[in-house]
Amino acid sequence: MERVALRFLVATAVILAVATVISGELVNETSATEGLLWSTGKDESDLLSKAEPENRDDSSSSVVNDHEDLDGGFSSLEGMLHWAIGHSDPTKLKESAEDVQRLPASELQKRQLELKELMEKMKMPSDAELMQTAIDDLNNSSSSFGDRQRALQELLILVEPLDNANDLNKLGGLAIVIQQLDHPDQDIRRLSAWVLGKACQNNAAVQKQILELGALNKLIKMVQSTSIEEAIKALYAVSTLIRNSLAGQEFFYAEAGDTMLQEILSNSSNDIRLRRKAVSVVADLAEYQLENIAGAESPCFRNRFFLKSVVDLTASTDLDLQEKALVAIQNLLQLKTTEALVFKDFCNLDGSLERMRQQLLDLMAEEDHRDYAVDLETLRREVEQIFHEKLGKVMKVPT
Ligand SMILES: *[C@@H]1O[C@H](CO)[C@@H](O)[C@H](O)[C@H]1NC(C)=O
Ligand SMILES: *[C@@H]1O[C@H](CO)[C@@H](O)[C@H](O)[C@H]1NC(C)=O
Ligand SMILES: *[C@@H]1O[C@H](CO)[C@@H](O)[C@H](O)[C@H]1NC(C)=O
Ligand SMILES: *[C@@H]1O[C@H](CO)[C@@H](O)[C@H](O)[C@H]1NC(C)=O
Repeated sequence: MERVALRFLVATAVILAVATVISGELVNETSATEGLLWSTGKDESDLLSKAEPENRDDSSSSVVNDHEDLDGGFSSLEGMLHWAIGHSDPTKLKESAEDVQRLPASELQKRQLELKELMEKMKMPSDAELMQTAIDDLNNSSSSFGDRQRALQELLILVEPLDNANDLNKLGGLAIVIQQLDHPDQDIRRLSAWVLGKACQNNAAVQKQILELGALNKLIKMVQSTSIEEAIKALYAVSTLIRNSLAGQEFFYAEAGDTMLQEILSNSSNDIRLRRKAVSVVADLAEYQLENIAGAESPCFRNRFFLKSVVDLTASTDLDLQEKALVAIQNLLQLKTTEALVFKDFCNLDGSLERMRQQLLDLMAEEDHRDYAVDLETLRREVEQIFHEKLGKVMKVPT
């Protein structure tokens, strides 16, 4: 944490100079005053929470939607300036800006150059350097548990921007993080899975690198960990690794990833966050197959027990899980490889949808839940319609 935070702690003198000289806008007194207002929203606690992702991890939402929890910190000079200016003395800044305004252009230019040199001397570490330091700490067998933990927490922030994620492998970092998946401490394993998941989120190049380094197999095994937090982050990493990736999905099926999913779905003792995530992965896989005819064909979608474990989730008391199950069923029904009669006779989809309809009717009577219940009912009806169309193709439906 300290190292990431360090780069924001620029000496006030330099901030003043930077603010008044480099930024042409600030030479103008009007904008200088406006400039002071830029930063009021940011304060130290923001920074600390950026530097320490743990604090922001409301795990229920981070699993469902892991891309929302960090925004990558201050990656630009401008962002840092905005923050720094907000932490310096406004009166001094203003005076300084007025001084600079009186300087002739040549003098201004000279000071700009001096300042550039000064900044280079201060040598604020770049993201690549920060990543290198974290990787070195992870790759050092003498590193303490705390060093290792902190290095991973830093990487979690640093890999958020796409360019940094792409650099991680060049620095040898992916292999080092993957090694940490075997660490005896479950928290180190959990953080490592999280970093990998984050690094390859919406990044086909990093997905490929991680797959080639053989991490998927390990991650699938980790989903079965007795530590629920570790299992959740491992499943998150699996999901980002195979999302929209044909190669990833082929590996996934070859490693019996679908059996792992089915076990999670069919056992109601499992943590609800894990079950929600698992059914979202099913929905993603079915969607990918729908959109890519030549895609990986999921053997599990021909397995009626697998399909039933998805349909049965609609009986859950957790509305979020029900909704995610509906989305998955909607995609599954549209696949050519699934059979309408299996949904009807084996999964009792009719009965499930009817039970859900009743439940949503009740829910609509409650002020607090009405809007959500109405949305869910719309989705439920769509699913029902798709189901009946699919059935109509194989059965003579009396008109
Ligand atoms: C200073 O800023 C004001 C408002 O943004 C603008 O109208 C004015 O032209 C600027 N003056 C100079 C010297 O840039
Ligand atoms: C490994 O870590 C130890 C303890 O922190 C440190 O003294 C040593 O210099 C590090 N080795 C390398 C190669 O960085
Ligand atoms: C890890 O450390 C070993 C020496 O202990 C070194 O050969 C290797 O290059 C290091 N890997 C990275 C990615 O820094
Ligand atoms: C269901 O899950 C619970 C908790 O994860 C576990 O203890 C139990 O063994 C599982 N049951 C089966 C049949 O797998």
